[in-house]
Amino acid sequence: MIHKALRTGMILALIVSLGLTGCAEVAYERLNDPARDTWQKPQGVIEKLSITPGSRVADLGSGGGYFTWHLAKAVGPRGIVYAVDINKAALDMIFKEMVARGTPNVRPVRAQPNDPQLPEPVDLVFSCNTYHQMIDRETYFRSLASSLRPGGRVAILDFQPRGFFSGMFGNRIAKDKVRLEMEAAGYQLINDYDLIDQQHFQIFEMAEG
Ligand SMILES: C[S@@+](CC[C@H](N)C(=O)[O-])C[C@H]1O[C@@H](n2cnc3c(N)ncnc32)[C@H](O)[C@@H]1O
Repeated sequence: MIHKALRTGMILALIVSLGLTGCAEVAYERLNDPARDTWQKPQGVIEKLSITPGSRVADLGSGGGYFTWHLAKAVGPRGIVYAVDINKAALDMIFKEMVARGTPNVRPVRAQPNDPQLPEPVDLVFSCNTYHQMIDRETYFRSLASSLRPGGRVAILDFQPRGFFSGMFGNRIAKDKVRLEMEAAGYQLINDYDLIDQQHFQIFEMAEG
């Protein structure tokens, strides 16, 4: 009897987890839709990041890799892009694409919600459409400082709330809130780009002193 209940429970857990993984893949495929380029302007974003070839970059919350491949091109063959995500389905997609593209300078990294698990300090942490999903951000970014090389930067793009109900479900975040939280975590704003209609795009570095 107990065995039967256990087996049924395990089968249900498997079905749920397969379903969730499938959902995640569909969501990531949607995020990777090339039609997104029209408003997301990935080339413009990469230009503003001024990445030196050979750099180490973390794509924090890489998802299915929409920006990862642009970053990989910018760092070149001597650089490395760590595609960092807490979701296994995202990293599986990145891995498959890495093999298909033959891009050895991309390394998928399975993160914990409170730790990017980076194997080495990086020159740039880039994060698009992820900051609003993160928990205890002030603590997170304060400790992320130890994963930055000297002169390291953190670039955050996220959706600006629009209208009364927008952002109520935590799916968007105001630009000033990001800045204030980053300042509380020990950073200073160095660039604030008005490039993308629906998103803010700010770059930070560690504050002096
Ligand atoms: C909306 S997706 C954005 C994906 C990609 N950056 C893009 O713009 O297409 C947000 C991603 O952030 C990941 N994520 C959320 N919290 C995270 C954390 N603390 N560390 C790393 N990844 C995280 C989620 O698993 C998800 O894949």
